[in-house]
This record gives sequence, C-alpha cells and structure tokens, in this order.
Amino acid sequence: MSPFHTKAGLLALASIALLTACGGDGDDAYPTLTGDKPLVLGHRGASGYLPDHTLEGYKKAIELGADFIEPDLVATKDGALIARHEPNITSTTDVAQRPEFAARKTKKVVDGVEEEGWFASDFTLAEIKTLRAVQPLAERDQSHNGKYPIPTLEEVLDLAKTEGARVGRTVGVYPETKHPTYHGNLGLKLEDRLLAVLAKYGYTSKTSPVIVQSFEVSNLKYLRTKTQVRLVQLVDADDVKPDGSMSLVAPYDKPYDFALAGDPRTFASLLTPEGLKEVKTYADGIGPWKPYLIPSKQVDANNDGKPDDLNGDGKIDERDRVMLPPTAVVKNAHAAGLFVHAYTFRSEARRLASDFKGDPKAEYKLFYDLGVDGVFSDFPDHAKAARDH
Ligand code: G3P
Ligand code: CA
Repeated sequence: MSPFHTKAGLLALASIALLTACGGDGDDAYPTLTGDKPLVLGHRGASGYLPDHTLEGYKKAIELGADFIEPDLVATKDGALIARHEPNITSTTDVAQRPEFAARKTKKVVDGVEEEGWFASDFTLAEIKTLRAVQPLAERDQSHNGKYPIPTLEEVLDLAKTEGARVGRTVGVYPETKHPTYHGNLGLKLEDRLLAVLAKYGYTSKTSPVIVQSFEVSNLKYLRTKTQVRLVQLVDADDVKPDGSMSLVAPYDKPYDFALAGDPRTFASLLTPEGLKEVKTYADGIGPWKPYLIPSKQVDANNDGKPDDLNGDGKIDERDRVMLPPTAVVKNAHAAGLFVHAYTFRSEARRLASDFKGDPKAEYKLFYDLGVDGVFSDFPDHAKAARDH
C-alpha cells in the first residue's frame, strides 16, 4: 500500500519531499486512522520474555518500546482489581503448590463453561500477594517462575508513570475488564471499581493515557455513560477454519452478555459496516483477533483431505498456512471513525504463517501497511523494530 493513504490528505502530499525511503519521519506516512504511527501495545507486559502480568514484565515492555502496557483485570474477594488473564489463577500462579490454599480448589462456571482450580475471587488481596507468577506457556522461559508477585491495577498505573518518566515518554495503560458478567454475578462488578481507580489518577478524559477494553458490550456501554476515556470493543472467535474463514463456536462466538440476552449477533456481526456503526456509539476503537483483518488458509494441493505440511516438519501449525488478501474490516472501521488495535502478535516460528519465513517483522509490516492503529504484541521490541525501521 502506498504510504500516502487518502486519510493523510493534502498535508501528506505537501510533505512528500521530506519523507525518507523507509516511510518518512512524518506521522502522515502511516495509513492509520489519524496518520500517526501505529501503537505498540505490550500484551500482558512483555509476555514473550517474562511471566504475564508482572511489574517486571510491564517494565521490560516499556524498556523494549511499548507505548502502552496491558493489564487484564480480575477481582479478588475483597474487590481489589489485580492483573491476571483469567479469574482461574491455577496456570498463572504457584497457588497449586501452596498447601495452605489446597482447600480452596473448587469448580466455577465462567461464561457457561465449568472450570476447576483456584479462583481470584476466593482470595483476599493480602492472600494473592503471597502468591508468585508462573509462565503459563511451556515453550517460554520458565526460569522466572515463583519470583514475581501479582500486581494490582494501581501498581501498574504507578509503574507506567514512574517508568514513563524514567524513559522520557508517556506510557499508557490499557486495562481489560475480564468476564464482566461473571464478576457482576459474584457481586464483584468491575466497572465502578475500575472507574474509581482511574479517577484517583485523574484519568477521566479522552486524552488520558488509558484505553479500556472488553469482549462484552453492555459493560462498555455502561462505561461510556460514566467516563470519556477511550473504550475498545474486543472481537474474538473460536478458531480459523482451514479455508481462512472464522470459526464461531460458543463461548467464543459472541459477547457473553449477548449469549445471556439471547441476542443473535455474533462477534463477526460487530465487524459489519452496520455493526461498526453501532460500536462507534459507545466505543472509540475495535480490538479484533488479527485473522479478522488478514486471514490465512491451509493448503491441500493433493486433495487428500488433509492440510499439506508445507515446511515438512511432520506437524501442522501456522507455518503450514498461507496468508490471504485482507478483509475490508480496517477500511470499514476507519470509515466509521474507529481505530483498530489487533491481537495477538507472537514471534515464535510456529506461530508465523509460511509467507513470513520465520521473520516476525514481516507479519507486523503486513498489518502496518494495511493500516492497523496498534498491535498487541508479546514481543514489543519486534513490533517497534518493524514499525520504526
Ligand atoms: O486484549 C487484547 C487481547 O489481549 C485479547 O486477548 O485473551 O490475550 O486477553 P487476551
Ligand atoms: Ca487482554
């Protein structure tokens, strides 16, 4: 795509002589909603390097160039907001190794699915603070397991401020309300707690260095009535089918509040031009899973009904998929006035389609050229390098 996207307008054309070969120093070089550089969003911190959702991981993300750091939020028994990806803390903490908490193991239903383990809502913040984070993905560095405490939202906001001052730039915080309906049913509604913490920091306006995200809709609509901070509608799916189309299977087919309300709309419905127009009434941007923007497909050249093992390693994974042309989602979202922050970019070779030949920067470049306004990345240094060079 030409760097001179139409949204950049005449100003960009007037700046043509100033642009460098790599796209120019001017922000108008980027086909984003505003013409600004796409944002690097440190997904769960720098989770490619350090355990998810730790102050150490967030600090590393900032050092690696993240513009925002992303805490997913769940609530403790006493209503504190802590940074965890799931209410079930079994795989991301050492709780299972703590004999003092053995009796807390239980079963709960999260978004219609029964899970077994230890749940944040059965622990006070003081008890959570005795736990230590572990790396949930076996393929990633396990050497930091058991070292780092579980941070609160306030600690993450403090870190963003102090580390931002240290590196000389504003670092934003991008909290996600995890399972809002589930928390509401426990009497631990997330939204007012989140608003109270943000207000304490003076983060109440569109220019505040905060963006709030959710996979549900009604809690975003509620937040819109209470705050002007930027809001993002996340858009999920269950999987990508062999032909590149999205697989929509419960509970990942639609926002859980839609499921409870019997609303027939799916996540994909939110990305139609009509859906995007509706999203714009309560949100500032969308956060779609990246295959909604540029899908990939498997290949079956010999028609044996099985995907071809393109790299011949005896396994079928992302490396055995080929990228397809982009959808119209970014174009339509921008036309609706919504920015697009896509997730999740990961650098491991097995997670990269064959087109990228093992180079994560090639994947970022494809999405930057499409016009995404930000990328949730486990490896913020790679996202930044692909953007800035
Ligand atoms: O919030 C963007 C992205 O983080 C959504 O996926 O499951 O990693 O929270 P998840
Ligand atoms: Ca998230």
